Amino acid sequence: MSASIQKYDVIVIGAGAAGLMCASVAGQRGRHVALLDHGGLPGRKILISGGGRCNFTNIHCEPNRFLSGNPHFAKSALALYTASHFLELVHKYNIPYHEKTLGQLFCDHSAHAILNLLLAECERGKVEHVPDAHSIRVEKNSSGFRIASARGEFQCESLVIATGGLSIPKLGATGFGYELAQQFGMSVVAPRPALVPVLLGGVEAEWTQLAGVSTLVRVSTPSAKTTFVEKLLVTHRGLSGPAILQISSYWQPGQPIHVDLAPEQSILTPLFGTRRDGAILRQALREHLPQRLAEHLANVAAPAGWSNAAIEAGERALHHWPFNPVGTEGFAKAEVTTGGIDTRHLQAKTMEARDIPGLFFIGEVVDVTGHLGGFNFQWAWSSAVAAGRAV
Ligand code: FDA
Repeated sequence: MSASIQKYDVIVIGAGAAGLMCASVAGQRGRHVALLDHGGLPGRKILISGGGRCNFTNIHCEPNRFLSGNPHFAKSALALYTASHFLELVHKYNIPYHEKTLGQLFCDHSAHAILNLLLAECERGKVEHVPDAHSIRVEKNSSGFRIASARGEFQCESLVIATGGLSIPKLGATGFGYELAQQFGMSVVAPRPALVPVLLGGVEAEWTQLAGVSTLVRVSTPSAKTTFVEKLLVTHRGLSGPAILQISSYWQPGQPIHVDLAPEQSILTPLFGTRRDGAILRQALREHLPQRLAEHLANVAAPAGWSNAAIEAGERALHHWPFNPVGTEGFAKAEVTTGGIDTRHLQAKTMEARDIPGLFFIGEVVDVTGHLGGFNFQWAWSSAVAAGRAV
């Protein structure tokens, strides 16, 4: 072997949330670790996450908050390294945080605190960061893996792939992890944009006149066993807000998204005992809904004929309003990517490839995708620690 080849015990490719965590854990076990990334700066998604305050975990982190071809796969890693474990690190670095809503923990000040925590943990593990490592190619050989890159050649015993999904290409997202898996004969569940706004077209495009309106809704779609009660936001191109982002991870093109515009409330049936006309309808809608939305619904959803049956039908419609998105905002706007390395190829306790000893996949590149609310970072931490202890 030529002297110019840099030798490590472990090489981690991808200096995002999962890669930084894994490298630090392996380094602190005494492994000689290099962390390669094609970008110049580590953890760029961490810095923009949670509106700059990083929703770094969720205290209600349960396996049922994740989508995967195998819903059981994430259980081991999530049990091995929980939200409480990550909180111990947050306390160790005296990072002020708060629960915003629904168990979501955010930094009080800036996501930089989480990145600095990870960088400090990497330093404790003497991790060598190799930025600008473009054009990475990997080959398996008798002593592990040989990696060629714009920053030279490397050899390692264990190789960890933490290159994330396809979301936000302008922040350095690539399909590297998927291509590498395929190079080693592993299958990939088709990646799709998730936690992403949806687009409305045709007659539904008129809803975009309500851009800026936000209201609490319950959303569902035929391919989701679950529903979400969170805010919906109308945008200039369609629908967004936490409720829509959540359901977008399940939505399939051609399916409707059903929106209950007034969860747990009766809007029209109280009209049974009153005068029945447009003015009363407007008033009833305004009591429960934002004014612009109430106005719009009064125009498009007035019960025909005002009979009891028509009022009941109108009430049902408000609780089961079908939207038929014509698409999503795509990977450019998606917070995460569903799909990824098929978990059948990986050992759930270590993230090691079953048929390629020494090769590990962690974080978003794996076919495990969390709901909105800190679950995706928790998966990054948990899967990274599982691999970091095994490499
Ligand atoms: P991540 O994408 O973080 O890192 C991958 C790394 O691999 C990058 O550094 C990239 O440069 C590198 N890489 C890619 N291709 C490469 C190649 N070919 N060669 C070398 N390096 C390569 N989640 C959450 O739980 N709470 C939150 O608040 C948010 N907020 C949020 C906001 C926004 C705008 C986005 C886009 C996403 C979030 N998320 C989130 C999701 C969360 O950021 C995401 O799930 C994790 O960052 C995934 O971590 P990974 O380390 O797996 O990938």
